Amino acid sequence: MIDMEVEIAGIKMKNPVTTASGTFGHGVEYAKYVDLNRLGAITVKAITLEPREGNPPPRIAETPSGILNSVGLQNPGVDTFIREDLPELIKYQVPIIVNVAGNTIEEYCQVVEKLNDLPIAAFELNISCPNVKHGGMAFGSDPHMIEKVTKKVKNRSKKPLIVKLSPNVTSIVDSAIAACDGGADALSLINTLLGMAIDAESRKPILKNITGGLSGPAIKPIALRMVYEVHKAVNIPIIGMGGIMTGIDAIEFMLAGATAVAVGTANLVNPTAVIDVIDGIYDYMQRHDIKSIKDIVGALSA
Ligand code: FUM
Repeated sequence: MIDMEVEIAGIKMKNPVTTASGTFGHGVEYAKYVDLNRLGAITVKAITLEPREGNPPPRIAETPSGILNSVGLQNPGVDTFIREDLPELIKYQVPIIVNVAGNTIEEYCQVVEKLNDLPIAAFELNISCPNVKHGGMAFGSDPHMIEKVTKKVKNRSKKPLIVKLSPNVTSIVDSAIAACDGGADALSLINTLLGMAIDAESRKPILKNITGGLSGPAIKPIALRMVYEVHKAVNIPIIGMGGIMTGIDAIEFMLAGATAVAVGTANLVNPTAVIDVIDGIYDYMQRHDIKSIKDIVGALSA
């Protein structure tokens, strides 16, 4: 028997694979491509208090081994999410993690309070989006602010709080410790790396917003290094992400110290990527005679 079950902040996941926020819509959009019941969890696109249209296009640019996005937290707002998206999503037997964003700490708290009594497994605190002027990375690049936002939202939340960290900092370990000090139940890392793309012919930036967040295989070595460093520094579980395309990529993150992983950009290239990653992990476990996936968390032999 192969046991793929893991636990993140009290959330039981049948396997260690969730979706990276922003790459899987609100989950149900993918139901025609994959059996959502097979996922360890579904992490939905960021939800804010009011609806947002996001940044003007173009807001996606392909790069070698990755994409840049400057979506700008487009979403229907928490009330519409509760009314239209959540009822469909909760029909599946899979924990739902809601990524929460806001312009102010109070907005984060209000979103959490509207969702507190609904069948959601956890909140993911988005203090790492690089594409908005307020909230997002502006909160997540200062350890004092990370601790403050985490503490305030945690006080108003009835669910476990996962804090999603930005890689656009000098020390992600300082960010991780600040989130722990604020009361985070788990961490997710990494969000995208701030970058830009230029069209030499027109001499213009490709993204209307000029800069965007880089994701995909290009960032995997950086993400692995950061998961490894954070795992050594804190005692709460980590959801690792950044360029995971295959089961073997996921295993690498778990060896570095992630208890669970999130598949992101791969979903945009291959709608069944998340299932392929789960099957790839299973295959690795079979080949290496691993009975419990928990045994490989942090099991890197250096
Ligand atoms: O621009 C965006 O919507 C990206 C969000 C994020 O990186 O968290």
